[in-house]
Amino acid sequence: MALRFEVLARFNRARAATLTLPHFECNTPLFMPVGTQGTIKGLTTNQLEDIGCQIILGNTYHLALRPTSELIDELGGLHKFMNWPRALLTDSGGFQMVSLLHLADITEKGVTFQSPVDGKPMLLTPEESIQIQNRIGADIIMALDDVVKTTITGPRIEEAMYRTLRWIDRCIAAHKRPNEQNLFGIVQGGLDPVLRDICVRGLVDRKLPGYAIGGLAGGEDKDSFWRVVAQCTAALPDDKPRYVMGVGYPLDIVVCSALGADMYDCVYPTRTARFGTALVPEGVLKLKHNAMAEDLRPIDATCTCMVCKNYTRAYIHSLVTKDAMGSQLLSYHNLSYMMRVHMHGLMFYD
Ligand code: GUN
Ligand code: ZN
Repeated sequence: MALRFEVLARFNRARAATLTLPHFECNTPLFMPVGTQGTIKGLTTNQLEDIGCQIILGNTYHLALRPTSELIDELGGLHKFMNWPRALLTDSGGFQMVSLLHLADITEKGVTFQSPVDGKPMLLTPEESIQIQNRIGADIIMALDDVVKTTITGPRIEEAMYRTLRWIDRCIAAHKRPNEQNLFGIVQGGLDPVLRDICVRGLVDRKLPGYAIGGLAGGEDKDSFWRVVAQCTAALPDDKPRYVMGVGYPLDIVVCSALGADMYDCVYPTRTARFGTALVPEGVLKLKHNAMAEDLRPIDATCTCMVCKNYTRAYIHSLVTKDAMGSQLLSYHNLSYMMRVHMHGLMFYD
């Protein structure tokens, strides 16, 4: 195991902890911005450090296609390649293929898909996903899982959960760097409490360094989503980190943290920035609106980020959709806001 998880304080089921990884000591609860091609769109790694970001997520699928995991390995790993000294997590790739490519097909062997580069059929097996992630060198790597949307029903949910459990053993066997990289298992099972329970028990038996709750935030109602998180966090080991995948609305982060979850990731803060939306304590602020054209206030008067200290709504309004600087400034503010959401989470437990 290449991590240490130390709980510092608790309030009911919520906890604040330090998560010590090979490249950085992180404070949980934490939010991980998502990078795709080895970059968080619109921010430099120095800016990510400035806003207090401790760990970022990279996607195996994107990095494996370009610049390829072999090249990243040759150049000394992703930390060095992208000049990011702090912690990194890579997702296994299957989820991205299934959500991005409608042509992806899942069999017992792995995920088959058509290469977006040359159209050739390709297969990502659990072994290959781990081999690629071993080359990329992130602090945390994710098991290849069989993900189905929570909005579908029937035997496919059960099949995907059992396949995820069979694949975890292939991932564990393929993992060649357990002393430098932490392999997390992913709980599947849709909205069915019986299937979720079987999956949690199966993964806990494997004594992994951390556990993720997957297959959520895909269109199900909040009540069902939070119920699954509550069930899984209650059953997962207390002394290991719990990561809810694909979750990034501030409200969900607060609720899931109250339920005992520790880690989150989502493209939402940076994606919504590119569409001209700022995250503020009241909800969202649409910078495209004509009302912003002569508004000389900062995005958020209570925000101390570089953007709110230096720029007006009117200026950002003039850039949004016209110049890359508009989405860069909004991404900077939105990620600063997310860093405060998780740090405020910590403050509840003082
Ligand atoms: N990202 C968001 N949800 C999931 C999931 O269920 N599995 C994986 N691998 N990645 C995700
Ligand atoms: Zn700001």
